[in-house]
Amino acid sequence: MLNRFSAMVRCLRHLTVLVALVAIHYGFTYEPKLRHHQEWKKLVLTHHWPATVCEMDQMHCKNPPKYWTLHGLWPDRAQTCNTSWPFDFTQIQDILVEMNQYWPDLLHPNKSQLWRHEWQKHGTCAASLECLNTQLKYFSKGLELYKQVDLNSVLEKSGIIPSTSYYQMKDIENALKGFYGVVPKIQCLSPRQGETVQTLGQIEICFTKEFQLRNCTESVDNLNDALTAWKSYNEDLHVCDTSANTLYPPVKEHSK
Ligand SMILES: *[C@@H]1O[C@H](CO)[C@@H](O)[C@H](O)[C@H]1NC(C)=O
Ligand SMILES: *[C@@H]1O[C@H](CO)[C@@H](O)[C@H](O)[C@H]1NC(C)=O
Ligand SMILES: *[C@@H]1O[C@H](CO)[C@@H](O)[C@H](O)[C@H]1NC(C)=O
Repeated sequence: MLNRFSAMVRCLRHLTVLVALVAIHYGFTYEPKLRHHQEWKKLVLTHHWPATVCEMDQMHCKNPPKYWTLHGLWPDRAQTCNTSWPFDFTQIQDILVEMNQYWPDLLHPNKSQLWRHEWQKHGTCAASLECLNTQLKYFSKGLELYKQVDLNSVLEKSGIIPSTSYYQMKDIENALKGFYGVVPKIQCLSPRQGETVQTLGQIEICFTKEFQLRNCTESVDNLNDALTAWKSYNEDLHVCDTSANTLYPPVKEHSK
């Protein structure tokens, strides 16, 4: 009898420990994920260079633009925040002309695959700000910031134009830092095997939640998030090597 009683107590103790462990497990794994989505700190306005995108995927590019186009407007520490909020093409009819011009889907011309992806992965998180809480507001803000940043003219005014000769990465970095007064993030296509020249691919300009320019550099622990944010789009881009020769390739006239 006594034996059976103490066995039961032991069993209950185990159960309590088990319940506690389960609670701890859920507490640790679930809660941070929920908070995670709300705690983004900055918006990353990402531009890509069509000639480089097309070099990475020659299959699908047709007549890429000769100017930097938008890739996305990304909250830095959150992804896919609301899966029950699908992209709705009809919401952005009023800005379609500018979307096609400045935010085109380089790999799927005349389609909206890029926009769908950007909305689902990044827009649904940006929507925690009231001024970005519809699809029209979100994409319009991207276009507005793109025009405000005016990366194409800034590079051109700094003498950084597409060329078959190389640039020093430092010069590109310094030109952008000098103009905007904040640190951008610049990404390149790695040198081909046996070569040393990297190819300029993507330029990110960062904003606070109040849409003030800010450094893209970050003291907090979001490096991995930032990496996965663009990794899925293309595995080949990486933060440029500051000391390497850099090609800013002209757009070829007749890409296949
Ligand atoms: C997700 O989006 C839907 C559609 O806009 C909205 O009704 C719902 O409240 C959102 N859910 C959350 C958790 O924000
Ligand atoms: C596809 O888009 C391009 C550029 O936006 C435009 O010039 C062309 O007319 C479009 N073609 C079709 C079939 O819609
Ligand atoms: C931005 O970066 C520059 C250069 O690294 C630094 O001098 C400046 O203090 C930074 N600004 C902020 C607000 O962190």
